[in-house]
Amino acid sequence: MQDHGWEPWVMEKIAAGRQLFRNAVLETPEDYRTDQELRRPQPPLAKAPRTDSALDLPKDFRDLDIDGDFLSILNRRKSHRVYTDAPVSLSALAYLLWCTQGVKSVRGKSYATLRTVPGGGARHPFETYLAVRKVEGLQPGLYHYLPMTHQLEFLGAPENLEGLIGASLLDQRWGEKASVVFYYSCVFYRAEWRYGVQAHPTVLIDSGHVTQNLYLAATSIGLGGCAVASVDGPLADRAFGLDGEEETIFYAMPVGTVSPDDREAEDAFYAFVRQEGL
Ligand SMILES: Cc1cc2nc3c(=O)[nH]c(=O)nc-3n(C[C@H](O)[C@H](O)[C@H](O)COP(=O)(O)O)c2cc1C
Repeated sequence: MQDHGWEPWVMEKIAAGRQLFRNAVLETPEDYRTDQELRRPQPPLAKAPRTDSALDLPKDFRDLDIDGDFLSILNRRKSHRVYTDAPVSLSALAYLLWCTQGVKSVRGKSYATLRTVPGGGARHPFETYLAVRKVEGLQPGLYHYLPMTHQLEFLGAPENLEGLIGASLLDQRWGEKASVVFYYSCVFYRAEWRYGVQAHPTVLIDSGHVTQNLYLAATSIGLGGCAVASVDGPLADRAFGLDGEEETIFYAMPVGTVSPDDREAEDAFYAFVRQEGL
């Protein structure tokens, strides 16, 4: 590795990070077999509901004013970190969930789900959790999306929802004003069963498809959001009741209502570029 004057522990972390870009299968014994190749039982395609009070979400989005011009959506997509106080409709939230993890069909009896996003080996190891702050018809609190049935289950209402959001985004307090924060977890074995030691880069690559769809879908209905990789996974795991070992939250995206009047406040996030002459 080139010498950048890093301390040994930094070198170690950097080396581990770079390892994700190499195909781990090329560095395994010849007789290495994944659990799928060993014909071990396949894990479930999605997590089962934790409660028995799931709410059906709409799948007919005709009430939404959806921009159908792909180029216009691409050109208008940007990260939004300033949100207005207006709530998001339940139909809009259902649309965002459908566009990011919706199950269009099942391949085979229950071999794989085919979703609105592509996924390595169609493993789709993600679960979507929500911190709902301002969505019409929904009690503020924590929710879990059930993609197999396009439903939402309520997991509870923390005492200080906004505080939890801010802390879970490692003090990026602007996220506290979002109407809803999407949190993505990875259920590792869902990908490891098929890809074994090579599962992890594939999963990280796949997560980008999900949030890109969220960016584009939000833009198409006039909402805005910002992908956030700086999350406090252990804190978010505790909030949503995840063990942090088999399943952990690693990515988030606050989404909310936006206004062109907030252009200056948005630009202020990058004032340092001008100030520092970058
Ligand atoms: C993987 C990923 C992680 C990101 N993490 C953060 C973050 O933690 N905080 C933040 O303010 N923006 C975050 N962003 C947003 C980027 O800063 C933003 O996409 C970039 O500045 C380009 O701006 P644009 O999205 O408006 O084109 C992230 C974006 C991606 C794709």
